[in-house]
Amino acid sequence: MRDQPAETLKNRFWTMNMNTINLNSASLDIDLGSGQPSQFHYVWLRDNCSCSDCTHPDTHERILVTSEIPDDLIALEANVDGDELAIIWSDENHQSRYSMDWLRSHNYSESAFNTDPAAADIQVWDKSLQGNIPTFDYQQIRSDDSVFLSWCEAVRDIGLTIIRNAPLEEGEIERFADYVAVVREVIYDRLHNVRATPGEYNAYNVASTTLELKPHTDMPNYNNPPGVQMFHFLVNESIGGESTAVDGFNIAAKLKHADPDAFQVLATTPVQFRMYSGRGDIIASNPLLTLDEQGEVKVFRFSNQLAQPANMAADKVEAFYRAYRKLGRLIEDHDNRVQFRLETGDIMVTNNLRVMHGRNSYDPSTGGRHLQLSYMDFCDVMSRIRMLKKQAA
Ligand SMILES: [Fe+2]
Repeated sequence: MRDQPAETLKNRFWTMNMNTINLNSASLDIDLGSGQPSQFHYVWLRDNCSCSDCTHPDTHERILVTSEIPDDLIALEANVDGDELAIIWSDENHQSRYSMDWLRSHNYSESAFNTDPAAADIQVWDKSLQGNIPTFDYQQIRSDDSVFLSWCEAVRDIGLTIIRNAPLEEGEIERFADYVAVVREVIYDRLHNVRATPGEYNAYNVASTTLELKPHTDMPNYNNPPGVQMFHFLVNESIGGESTAVDGFNIAAKLKHADPDAFQVLATTPVQFRMYSGRGDIIASNPLLTLDEQGEVKVFRFSNQLAQPANMAADKVEAFYRAYRKLGRLIEDHDNRVQFRLETGDIMVTNNLRVMHGRNSYDPSTGGRHLQLSYMDFCDVMSRIRMLKKQAA
């Protein structure tokens, strides 16, 4: 629809090669082949000019300074030339060309576009995942890129995977992290040992006891918690110690459905988490549920053991605890969790921005139990997916 007086638009209407272009005051409409006009704003088109003056031909980074685009920018001319839209702009008669395919794949008129080849296909889960956890073989991941890609995609979409038959060598999980992407270090350790050897307890973590560990996400005491967590079972011979996992996205969705007010409270109330030892004292305050622009949970944080005393206005405390306990009861509901035993040589990998992990208590007198943990950032695993897809193409 035109948003400029008809007089001004006189002579600014073309029909060429079946593509109708309609020039408005701040945007143009063009039929990209669907029979319906798509709207592209001048400032958006100008900002995405791909000529070598505006986009570096080698790095494909933007050289154009977006803030320098004039506020009164208009298209002086717009034509379809072959399979391209060609525009002459009012700022110094700059010329831009856009392929029809590029316009179609970036057509925000119809819906938000997503050109990310690693775009996720999130599948939430409950106890029905038990027995169906995506499971892979270590050597196959290392030797077959199609298996490697499938595993990365399962980490992205399910957020819980098991890898069998990993080498029983100390430090292997660190080497595997560097094979997949890069180790995400935190201040305490690059490689975390979890075992209950009296006298060797890590002072900062209850994981180094034999107690039950309730499902939690790691390191919510960071503003940017590690996105991917990998647990390598070098030894698991004790009785007990079964692993548990809960899908935080599923829990959040259930809470939102049952009690939207409680969901909103948890999405807007910062909770402080702290972890400290002689080597560090890391504190961060963030809502348990970080939402994206669509209101979907992007980051799920939950660690009962690391949560600090609630610090909020007095009239918010009751509503917070009501919502917080409701969330906690959903996490404790065994219909929402999987429980399974991991064996010596297994690696469990979780999306730590989504999936909570825990374990039952165990009896160290019945056998050894030694895990090594390493973290990665989620973006680096997504990067691996893109690179593997590019290689396969
Ligand atoms: Fe943990």
